[in-house]
Amino acid sequence: MSTLQNRRIQISLPATGDEEWQALREPLATGWLTQGPKVAQFERDFAQRHSVRHALATTSCTTALHLILAAMEIGPGDEVIVPAFTWVATANVVLYVGATPVLVDVDPQSFNIDPAQVAAKVTARTRAIIAVHLFGLAADIDAIAAAAPGVPIIEDAACAAGSAYKDRPTGSLGLAGAFSFHPRKSVTTGEGGMVTTNDSALAKRADALRNHGASISEEQRHAGPRPYLLAEFNLLGFNYRMTDLQGAVGVVQFAKLDAFIDERARWAAFYRDALAKLSWLRLPSVPEGWRHGWQSFVCTVDPERAPMTRNAIMERLQSQGVSTRPGTHAIHMLGLYRERFGFGADDFPNARDCDRNTMAIPLHNRMTADDYSYVVRALCAL
Ligand SMILES: Cc1ncc(COP(=O)(O)O)c(C=O)c1O
Repeated sequence: MSTLQNRRIQISLPATGDEEWQALREPLATGWLTQGPKVAQFERDFAQRHSVRHALATTSCTTALHLILAAMEIGPGDEVIVPAFTWVATANVVLYVGATPVLVDVDPQSFNIDPAQVAAKVTARTRAIIAVHLFGLAADIDAIAAAAPGVPIIEDAACAAGSAYKDRPTGSLGLAGAFSFHPRKSVTTGEGGMVTTNDSALAKRADALRNHGASISEEQRHAGPRPYLLAEFNLLGFNYRMTDLQGAVGVVQFAKLDAFIDERARWAAFYRDALAKLSWLRLPSVPEGWRHGWQSFVCTVDPERAPMTRNAIMERLQSQGVSTRPGTHAIHMLGLYRERFGFGADDFPNARDCDRNTMAIPLHNRMTADDYSYVVRALCAL
């Protein structure tokens, strides 16, 4: 390919710049660095955009999920249903609280939990279902709820800030949602997360738990007239507070979310048109009424038709300056889960195949039109 020289198209690159840099000035100047007014503003903006009453910033999506399970008092003896194809944190948080993750296979087109397989996994011990909106596409929440009536749904919306399901925002679809601001997500605070919920009692408990279980926040304590007062600690909590430095960056980044998603959606449509002729590559699709957040553009390589194996394709593209990554992993094939639960690769065949055959190609807000065309040419030339 003629334009190969020094080309390097990353799988993802955060779209941060001078505005984010400037936003750091105020907390650094005032000296209020831990959770404070910037985090509070980020939370208000986030809650409003996702149509929820409460948004609580955390250190990551992993800690947001942990907080939700802890606030629900899920623990030993309880079961939580999770999809078999997702980032490991979705299942790990269930182990953190001493409960058992119960895996359900996924739908290979949406990559999300297959609602048709949920009902068979519900038992008297099932306390929740973690529905993952993988890569930014919402899981079929209505079908999941119908398969498990009365079981609370927790949304793992790590990849799905700004996404929607049947015109309803992600994060507002179940009992609670958890989001990520890791740099591979559409908007970032370096690391960071958010809990969303309309349940005020759950929010109150999660709020205390993220701050060591304290009955009042640092801000309330500092503003009050009685300096001798310490908070009450009646719960075993954690320190999962987001810093105000991150909050300040989050406010600026979050204001750009919809523009970022719109741009990603335009390039996703470009990919889908330009790559449709590759019979060996299955492309992601978006059901009517869903808004895909396009955290990643994840394709599936058909091993029967592809010119070479998925890994050989990824190596070839890498050598041409195009970064790719597997979509994510099958939980039951990871050592921790294999050994603890005795899983075999074939136990969840769709998750197994997604693990082996998915491939994310570059899609982010720092790519140029030329970059997108280059990726298409590289794929079509295989
Ligand atoms: C589906 C899913 N859940 C949870 C997480 C964990 O997010 P964080 O890195 O913010 O803890 C990720 C991160 O990639 C994810 O993709």
